[in-house]
Amino acid sequence: MTDTPATPSDAALYALPKAELHLHIEGTLEPDLAFELAARNGIRLPYDTVDDLRRQYDFSDLQSFLDLYYETLDVLRTEADFAELTRRYVATAAAQGVRHVEPFFDPQAHTSRGVALETVLGGMTAALDEAERDLGVTSGIILSFLRDRPVEEAEATLTAALQRSDRIIAVGLDSAEVGYPPALFEKVFARARDAGLHAVAHAGEEGPPEYVLEALDLLEVERIDHGIRSAESPGLVDRLARDRIPLTICPLSNVRLRTVPELAAHPLRRLDAAGVRVTINSDDPAYFGGYLGDNFIAVRDALGMTEAEARRYARNSLTASFAPEERVAELLAELDAWRA
Ligand code: ADE
Ligand code: ZN
Repeated sequence: MTDTPATPSDAALYALPKAELHLHIEGTLEPDLAFELAARNGIRLPYDTVDDLRRQYDFSDLQSFLDLYYETLDVLRTEADFAELTRRYVATAAAQGVRHVEPFFDPQAHTSRGVALETVLGGMTAALDEAERDLGVTSGIILSFLRDRPVEEAEATLTAALQRSDRIIAVGLDSAEVGYPPALFEKVFARARDAGLHAVAHAGEEGPPEYVLEALDLLEVERIDHGIRSAESPGLVDRLARDRIPLTICPLSNVRLRTVPELAAHPLRRLDAAGVRVTINSDDPAYFGGYLGDNFIAVRDALGMTEAEARRYARNSLTASFAPEERVAELLAELDAWRA
């Protein structure tokens, strides 16, 4: 008789020590908090109840989601709002095994409506400091440029950010992808890298494999966010595997935004089998039906996941993180002690 490999339980996947590398803090805004903040700030959301808002979460593509995401984040106004948002995310994430997180924030989505960079960073930083002290969750913030806004705005955003926070560890690139290739942002990314920041970019979510190549070659990113359309190009898959480029894959997001027809058809396992450094992430968990542990469970149920695979995805997340070496070593030791 041959032993079948162990399949981790729900509880084991929640307990699995892991890093979250693709998480938009604005995408953790749950409908109940959106209504609370709207009331507190005297804003009227165009929906009467939490359930009405939740009923809008039926997306046809990335843009249909972004329209609601930008509309709803308008309830975030004060430092206390950003602190509360971040605090609630970290509490949920920690309960699902997140030990280190590198949240994105979209400064232009806030500064463009009169909310200062200091307000956003002040709130996020306070909550992340608290998370490290009280929950042992470490973090670093990623400033993400909106690729569907003018490049000059990204330049000004970087200039302002470089003066304001030592908690920013990297720059990223997000929002509507098709028609906004990475090449547009070559100069601003070069300046960020010269200033000592890490670089990542969304590419190959809805956009073609060529955008992944541009992100690697022109933006010199260290990780690709999503990157799932790389699977269409065997040459690119070989390169990702050879160069050990991590992909921050977001399974539930890809289903909700219809970049894959269903989870069972997701290329995650094929990419992993080809030697690509796959990580699992939650993207905008308030909108897509689950936080990080939930994404692991969904992948296990749709594609299968052995104990060894779960361990590999978690290990990839730790080694692909921008956490200090000693912190990575500490978390790898925690991972060694984990059992399915
Ligand atoms: N902003 C928030 N979530 C995003 C996603 N999945 N893709 C691009 N931009 C985003
Ligand atoms: Zn994303």
